[in-house]
Amino acid sequence: MTGQLTFQSPHAKVDICPMTEADLDDVMRVVNASFTAPWSRSWLLGALQNRDDCVFLVSKLQGVEAQPIVGVVVYSFVIDQAHVMNIAVDPDYRGQQIGDALLLALIADSNARGGTQVTLEVRTSNTAAIGLYRKHNFDVIGTRSNYYKDGEDAYIMMK
Ligand SMILES: CC(C)(COP(=O)(O)OP(=O)(O)OC[C@H]1O[C@@H](n2cnc3c(N)ncnc32)[C@H](O)[C@@H]1OP(=O)(O)O)[C@@H](O)C(=O)NCCC(=O)NCCS
Repeated sequence: MTGQLTFQSPHAKVDICPMTEADLDDVMRVVNASFTAPWSRSWLLGALQNRDDCVFLVSKLQGVEAQPIVGVVVYSFVIDQAHVMNIAVDPDYRGQQIGDALLLALIADSNARGGTQVTLEVRTSNTAAIGLYRKHNFDVIGTRSNYYKDGEDAYIMMK
């Protein structure tokens, strides 16, 4: 997925490709609908422009002319370690293997860069995300107490 390559999911009707600034409004729509404390638009734009250590991928619906963005995943990559910073699917399109496709694309992209491990934090109550990560053989390797601003703990998961 480095450069302009597009990942075509075997199961979900989406193409996954690098995010551009033109995608910013659509991505903000998805993250605003997905998180209680979402990234700000200015933070995301700054990260997209300046964070060379980060990879931003979006999923676009196939078979629709304008190809609306229905999901996003962002991860950082240092040496051989990928860290999932966020993954989200538009609530209207959940349960259609799009999160699955985004995570598979992240893993493929990380592997192509020489990655050997993927880590992340996830709310201990986030059944859907934990289910997604477990499906892809992530293990819980620890817990961070009070990790989130509202006091909820995070599981640290790794694959
Ligand atoms: C987590 C999230 C990205 C999953 O996206 P999705 O497109 O709905 O998930 P998929 O349809 O690709 O499901 C893939 C797998 O995830 C798991 N899963 C998805 N939804 C689930 C749910 N509600 N309960 C349990 N497991 C679930 C299942 O293992 C599923 O595989 P299966 O369909 O073969 O059973 C989506 O729920 C989301 O955007 N949540 C809000 C943002 C968020 O919490 N992000 C995670 C931050 S750490």
